[in-house]
Amino acid sequence: MDLFDDIEREAVLPLAPGAALLRGFARDDATALLDAVAGIAAQALFRHLVTPGGHTMSVATTSCGALGWTSDDSGYRYTARDPATGRHWPAMPNTLRQLAQNAAKLAGFAGFTPDACLINRYAPGARLTLHQDRNEHDFAAPIVSVSLGIPAVFLFGGMKRSDPTRKLRLAHGDVVVWGGPARLRFHGILPLAHATHPLTGDCRINLTFRKAGSARER
Ligand code: SIN
Ligand code: FE2
Repeated sequence: MDLFDDIEREAVLPLAPGAALLRGFARDDATALLDAVAGIAAQALFRHLVTPGGHTMSVATTSCGALGWTSDDSGYRYTARDPATGRHWPAMPNTLRQLAQNAAKLAGFAGFTPDACLINRYAPGARLTLHQDRNEHDFAAPIVSVSLGIPAVFLFGGMKRSDPTRKLRLAHGDVVVWGGPARLRFHGILPLAHATHPLTGDCRINLTFRKAGSARER
């Protein structure tokens, strides 16, 4: 094995102060996580949201937890109810919450209590342009991002949109955590290449766990 392989196989790869890539951290839980996602998506269907600028997102989204992330022509925000049904978002299953808490702890953020999990489904060609996660009530808690299914290229930038970005290939079971000084770093996903995965077929599922709310929003 050469040096490159050794680094690639390291379980915790620091990316920046406050940010780490946990290679394969969710792999053993993947089947349980995907089963849970199917249960959530049966109650709160995947949908292509429209951005405040009027653009239909290529990524399909749904949510679970006390709060769900949504978007329409009046802006991006978290809501307690799914606007498509008027019902509360499905509860966050313990398998999801526990995995997010364990990953956060390994990355140095013990005590993470996510109240929202945004579930993104990427088909080949779908992408997410560079953005900051800044609709959450406060930025003390990290973001925990879990990749399942076909691989993607994650762009990890700086505090300004124009800062250089690092390209990281995220494979099935990889987890990225960014918080503290890295909490507002720009990030995104390049258009997905065609591929298939035994557990997801031709798509990638990404779970991002957030602490989104304050008492006021509940
Ligand atoms: C996100 O930024 O919400 C998702 C990132 C990803 O799909 O890996
Ligand atoms: Fe994001």
